[in-house]
Amino acid sequence: MGAQSLAVAGGALALCLTLAGATNPGFVVRITQAGLDYAHQQGIAILEKELAHLKLPDISGDFRIRHVGKVRYELSRLDLRSFHLPYSRISLVPNVGLQVAISNAFADVAGNWRVKIHFVRDHGSFDLKVENVYIKINLKLGSDTSGKPTIDTSYCSTRISKVRAHFSGRLGWLYNLFYSAIESRFRKILESEVCDIVVKSVYRELQPYLQTLPVTAKIDAVAGVDYSLVAPPNATAQSLDVELKGECFSLANRSAVPFPPLALSLPPDHDRMVYFAASSYFFNTAGFAYHAAGALVFEITDSTIPKDVGFHLNTTTFSAFIPQLEKMYPDTPMKLRLSASSAPFLNIGPGGLSLKPVVDIQAYAILPNSSLAPLFLLSLTGNVSAVINVKSGHIVGSLNVGRMKLSLKHSDVGTFQVRTLQSIMNIFASSILLPRINARLDQGFPLPLLDRIQLSNILVQFHQNFLLLGADVHYQPRG
Ligand SMILES: *[C@@H]1O[C@H](CO)[C@@H](O)[C@H](O)[C@H]1NC(C)=O
Ligand SMILES: *[C@@H]1O[C@H](CO)[C@@H](O)[C@H](O)[C@H]1NC(C)=O
Ligand SMILES: *[C@@H]1O[C@H](CO)[C@@H](O)[C@H](O)[C@H]1NC(C)=O
Ligand SMILES: *[C@@H]1O[C@H](CO)[C@@H](O)[C@H](O)[C@H]1NC(C)=O
Ligand SMILES: *[C@@H]1O[C@H](CO)[C@@H](O)[C@H](O)[C@H]1NC(C)=O
Repeated sequence: MGAQSLAVAGGALALCLTLAGATNPGFVVRITQAGLDYAHQQGIAILEKELAHLKLPDISGDFRIRHVGKVRYELSRLDLRSFHLPYSRISLVPNVGLQVAISNAFADVAGNWRVKIHFVRDHGSFDLKVENVYIKINLKLGSDTSGKPTIDTSYCSTRISKVRAHFSGRLGWLYNLFYSAIESRFRKILESEVCDIVVKSVYRELQPYLQTLPVTAKIDAVAGVDYSLVAPPNATAQSLDVELKGECFSLANRSAVPFPPLALSLPPDHDRMVYFAASSYFFNTAGFAYHAAGALVFEITDSTIPKDVGFHLNTTTFSAFIPQLEKMYPDTPMKLRLSASSAPFLNIGPGGLSLKPVVDIQAYAILPNSSLAPLFLLSLTGNVSAVINVKSGHIVGSLNVGRMKLSLKHSDVGTFQVRTLQSIMNIFASSILLPRINARLDQGFPLPLLDRIQLSNILVQFHQNFLLLGADVHYQPRG
């Protein structure tokens, strides 16, 4: 196979991986009925306020009353004093979206009336009690080209079955004669205005709020996470599932990930408001990005060793294990360069999260003119496990290292017994390298959260290929 056909095959392979990757998300957010109920409660409070600002047009017309003749009437300054939505619920409509059903809502309207019969004019005020208002709203969720969630009112209907009126003033009684005609006009106006407000509120309040989902969240100066939606949110009978790409990438140079996300199968748990499933793909793309960005390199010199370690990083210390160092580089300071030889690959299973990194340790003597003389190259492997938690909306972790295995890859200083270096290298790894990595992991990965959301009641579970975090949500209103 020539170089060109090899490149074509490579391109085809990369394409296959990309296509395969399009089907599985790297991260899933599941909102349960409890979560929808909470969101619904916040949404209804907002809608109640919006409805109270509803502006109603003046109503005027003529009406003919037997024995009296033509009456010219006008209702003006209609003022919606309050709109109460005491009973409502949100439900999932599988494969369609969400439905909000509001029942027995009621409102108070006040205003002025004016009549003219022949040459008689009169005016006064009135109160309306609008009762038994039923509102049904269907919401359709989607995703836009940038991968942000969208929401739209796909259906709205309002039905008002009762309007009671009281007209005060000398000729107020007149209205009772033709009130039913006005009532039906008023009902039609209010019914359409309510749905107008619903559509506008969804468009002006809910949609921009959903768009606060950080589809690219910065982790730190090196890497970010791509949280764009890979499909429109899927309503099932139990939950609303949002599939995200869940891919970490180097900010400086995003490159194609050479492995696909595996399928996730979430358990049917539903006692928390929201669940986040972070696949091994999510973490492994992070490892890949940090490795590609050269961020998995740690240099240790004498000045970076904590004082309580009790020895210096120099050839005098190491000549206890490698006697020839004393002669070759007498009492010379040293430097260790620790680097992951390949991107760390992590496994998640019911037993937890583990990885088996391979760390290269290159030792140098720092010569008086500050140039580095290579001494030896070691390879360190060990079983590392992680403890995971959630802190301030971030997945945080800390690593524990088990027994480590050391081997010599190359020596510039002749032969020596590698085994004897085991304990000192354990100290470098566990007292110096690990705290640095853990300090970094304690900053954590940002979760895909909308603005002003706080999590509580955190639950952490491990499943095959993914980490499952459950939480309850608290929305902190602005101001
Ligand atoms: C939505 O979820 C249901 C149930 O898990 C599944 O059968 C269906 O294929 C999903 N639809 C999409 C578009 O992912
Ligand atoms: C970006 O990453 C790719 C693959 O890792 C590499 O081949 C390329 O040289 C990098 N480009 C830059 C500007 O670092
Ligand atoms: C090298 O380390 C030894 C023992 O840890 C210490 O006594 C000595 O002062 C160190 N030398 C330098 C140059 O730091
Ligand atoms: C530093 O000193 C070493 C040994 O004395 C010598 O081999 C090397 O060339 C020097 N390097 C520089 C950059 O001067
Ligand atoms: C790491 O774990 C594997 C299997 O769990 C075991 O076979 C291996 O000996 C362990 N390695 C070390 C260095 O403890």
